[in-house]
Amino acid sequence: MTDVAGKTAFITGGASGLGLATARALAARGASVILADIDAAGAENAAAGLRSEGANALGLQLDVTSEDSWAGAGARAREFGPVRILFSNAGVGGGSGPFEQYDTEVWRWNYAVNAHAHLYACRTFLGEMKASGEPSHLVITSSMVAIVPPPISVAYISSKYATLGIAMALRNELAESCVDISVLMPGMSATRIVETTRELRPVEVEVGKAAATSQAMQGVLAGGMSPDKIGARVVQAIEAGDYWIFTHPEWKAMAELVTADMLASFGTSADPAYRGDDIDGLIAANGGRMFGAKAQERDMAEENDIREMAQRFFDAIEAGDIETMVNSFTPDAEIWHNTDELIVTPAQTAQTLTGMVARIKDREYAERQLTAFPGGFVQQHVLKGKRVHDDGEVRLPCAIVCKVENGKITRLDEYFDSAHVAAFRKFANA
Ligand SMILES: NC(=O)c1ccc[n+]([C@@H]2O[C@H](COP(=O)([O-])OP(=O)(O)OC[C@H]3O[C@@H](n4cnc5c(N)ncnc54)[C@H](O)[C@@H]3O)[C@@H](O)[C@H]2O)c1
Repeated sequence: MTDVAGKTAFITGGASGLGLATARALAARGASVILADIDAAGAENAAAGLRSEGANALGLQLDVTSEDSWAGAGARAREFGPVRILFSNAGVGGGSGPFEQYDTEVWRWNYAVNAHAHLYACRTFLGEMKASGEPSHLVITSSMVAIVPPPISVAYISSKYATLGIAMALRNELAESCVDISVLMPGMSATRIVETTRELRPVEVEVGKAAATSQAMQGVLAGGMSPDKIGARVVQAIEAGDYWIFTHPEWKAMAELVTADMLASFGTSADPAYRGDDIDGLIAANGGRMFGAKAQERDMAEENDIREMAQRFFDAIEAGDIETMVNSFTPDAEIWHNTDELIVTPAQTAQTLTGMVARIKDREYAERQLTAFPGGFVQQHVLKGKRVHDDGEVRLPCAIVCKVENGKITRLDEYFDSAHVAAFRKFANA
């Protein structure tokens, strides 16, 4: 998780579309931004626009396909500030029409801009980001079409698939570093990509069916999502440490079909006598890193914290420590009981428990079965004790479901049998 305020971000394709929108959102959160683009004037104009709004912004020329150009841009960027956020985003559309008729130059150019450039971006900044030890973040722009490939450019789809692969592999490699990674998977957005592709294509403009396809895409994208909304989502993902950035959930149904088709095709082994690949061994042999490791660690740490707080909470009630019990809740927490279906406050619960503690001695939360997960816990237990009035033994089998945020309970749902409660309350009004 990377707080963007005060950090320097380097954004490729920063003169337009998603790059510029993300730069704007980063600047609004207090980051300094470097807009790098093959369109030097566009990058400088965009940076001047941001500066006029009070942002610290630099525009510079960069052809992401050229290592020399990266060397120059890297040096200028370092003079401006230490890059801790890298948004490798520049991209262009591919050829269209039948694949076997693709122009080789257009094919190479598409891969150079959309896929190979991520290597140059990382070669320029990633080492420094890792060495800094500071929370840093790399975002790579792929596309929804990498997962759900519609019948459009093979070059574009496959280069975006390569980009997704780069992000997937880097996710493993960066798992134990201070650099988080996200992969941006947008659907349609109203940017200039069709126009910039036409302007930058290394060979003459497309003709015939290919030109018609490109014209059609321009129309489709014009009605797409506002780049500003996507830029804001990117910044949110950087701050939250999200790996996947899906901005268009309407693609999910198609993604499920594509994935289901693939999974359904895992049949039996081609060699039933083969023992099977040792996948855990492969992961361990390569340093034990696997995608999601960081997220898993975070979830495990959160689960541990929640488990400890649940333990403290019930220990406190057992010990009659009402203050610790109340402090385990947020001030506006809701406490619901299945027996009366009422929602009460922590203060009202404190009152109830003060009464219970006075009436029931030798309290014990026995047979605790605690299941913690990110965001909360469920505990089953039997609250045992003796009535102070007559030494009568009481027991209350119970299930408690709690939502937890930042170490405090925000909602507690209590399930028990009212007959057991009656035994607890036998002398409540005595
Ligand atoms: N617009 C969409 O619907 C959409 C959907 C999914 C993914 N994407 C991806 O989003 C990214 C940004 O594209 P956009 O839609 O904002 O388009 P855009 O054309 O508005 O912006 C892309 C920028 O990249 C720059 N660029 C192109 N080639 C370059 C090079 N060699 N070196 C440096 N800069 C170069 C262009 O000059 C342009 O300013 C691309 O990777 C694109 O594939 C866009």
